[in-house]
Amino acid sequence: MTAPITLNRLREMKARGEKIACLTAYDASFARLLDKAGVEVILVGDSLGMVIQGHSTTVPVTMDDMVYHSRAVARGNERALLMVDMPFMACPTVELALVNATRLMQAGGAQVVKLEGSGVQLEIVTELARRSIPVCAHLGLQPQSVHKIGGYRVQGRESAAAKAMLDNAMQLERAGADLLLLECVPESLATEITESVAIPVIGIGAGPRCDGQVLVLHDILGVTPGKAPRFSRNFMSGGGAIGEAVARYVAEVKAGSFPAQQHVFE
Ligand code: KIV
Repeated sequence: MTAPITLNRLREMKARGEKIACLTAYDASFARLLDKAGVEVILVGDSLGMVIQGHSTTVPVTMDDMVYHSRAVARGNERALLMVDMPFMACPTVELALVNATRLMQAGGAQVVKLEGSGVQLEIVTELARRSIPVCAHLGLQPQSVHKIGGYRVQGRESAAAKAMLDNAMQLERAGADLLLLECVPESLATEITESVAIPVIGIGAGPRCDGQVLVLHDILGVTPGKAPRFSRNFMSGGGAIGEAVARYVAEVKAGSFPAQQHVFE
């Protein structure tokens, strides 16, 4: 086995301009396959509410669901860094955020917790970081807020919103965030944020200049029902086995050929 992926290694990759490949997984078998294919970060996303449980949003996902799937993924994974989502309302206060992040790490095997909610994140990220809990702050489109924002839309197109997101990203870095994840953000803004922080930035629908890319596993395998998101790509369409599709995704992220122009927002 090659050395386990650490946050330090991801920072080194950013410094060297080496792209980080990240995918979601929700069970041990796929975790093993992704790990063997060279994915550096496995995300147990609360997207499991949609692709595993069949809900129309991520809002119904609970802490018990996240712990269950995270434990399964941890059993299949050997080398990749394991990042796990804090589900809807897992961080209503600093105290509950600490309790729930601890549970994801101790019972779920998480090595990094990811949380949505830009404005209120700062205090929570500060307190998690103070206690040595690695954190990824999710900016841009935040699917847990879908009912508030009225749909899955590109975020940060207006100049005031773009400036607020850039400021927020830099504040989160100062607060101790270890990673940022940008979802559905114009390419120019994602590039500016990536260049303004020292911590690695993983994008989804945020253009090719982020330090790494993440996609939902079911989207790249073409099994998500309905129309695929614009920023995604079915890596099974070239034929072959699932392992080959994942290897193609990793190779294209590393080579910078995914995402291409048709996957990017202006
Ligand atoms: O839940 C998830 O899978 C995510 C990705 C879409 C980034 O947060």
